[in-house]
Amino acid sequence: MIVTVANAKGGVAKTTTAVYLCAAHGLAVDDMDGALLLDADVQASASLWRDMADEHGDPLGFDVCPANLSTLRRLRGSSAARLHGLAVVDAPPQGPVLEAAVRCADFVVVPASDSPLDLQQAWATMAAIPQGVPKAVLVVRAEPRTTACMETIAALDGEGTPRFDAVVRKRQDIKRCMGARPVKLWEYARAYRGDPGGRAMRNMQAYKPAARMGSAGSLDDVFRGEPASEWVKTSVSMRRETRRRAKRYALDHDMSLQEVVDAALRAYVDGLR
Ligand SMILES: Nc1ncnc2c1ncn2[C@@H]1O[C@H](COP(=O)(O)OP(=O)(O)O)[C@@H](O)[C@H]1O
Ligand SMILES: [Mg+2]
Repeated sequence: MIVTVANAKGGVAKTTTAVYLCAAHGLAVDDMDGALLLDADVQASASLWRDMADEHGDPLGFDVCPANLSTLRRLRGSSAARLHGLAVVDAPPQGPVLEAAVRCADFVVVPASDSPLDLQQAWATMAAIPQGVPKAVLVVRAEPRTTACMETIAALDGEGTPRFDAVVRKRQDIKRCMGARPVKLWEYARAYRGDPGGRAMRNMQAYKPAARMGSAGSLDDVFRGEPASEWVKTSVSMRRETRRRAKRYALDHDMSLQEVVDAALRAYVDGLR
């Protein structure tokens, strides 16, 4: 699944959100190889974050790669995307790279703080996202119970703007985390998982296996609901060589590793019966 974090405004926690969503994915799937952060911003803050964490001897635990116009146009169906459960694009505030980042996405997250100016930019960004690309505003750096925050949420809801129920609070811990591995994920863990009562994004994690990279083109494809039987998370080990071969098979057959493992196990278990 490709998630693009975009907002036409700078300094609205795009990079922070991209990093935390990747970290939340790692926690949810218990596979720190699972996420890939594509740094498409010329400021390269995500890459700097990764480098600083490496230098401090506490790496982020997921890959961070630079991305440009060409990378993003080819992202759907690329091997880099297919081999990761989640690819998060940290988009620049404007230009063709932003457009490409939004076009390749299965879902666009638009972070916005609880200020009127941010809201205008968030709406402008939402309006510029092509029809059919699911999107939602994530209120970040918020100070709940302040008038500004309550008005922001009321304005979003009043306009029927899809938004995450999770609201990320303004926190020193998040501010000071730049250049380090996020340890506590705060509301990002909830934003990642979605909220059963959520209006905008159901459950990114639950839909992930259905949203096969490279094939999901419309809202229905991405959010086609629960597959025939629900996916459950389990913890198994496999030999490195088996994993390598399964990944190779996934790549050759345009499948996710998850699907290969599930199909292989079903074939094996059914064959024994
Ligand atoms: N929840 C939060 N609480 C406090 N500070 C935050 C929070 N989220 C982001 N910030 C801070 O806001 C600033 C801008 O965030 P950043 O992710 O670099 O924005 P962008 O990528 O949109 O330019 C940074 O100093 C960051 O640490
Ligand atoms: Mg940034």
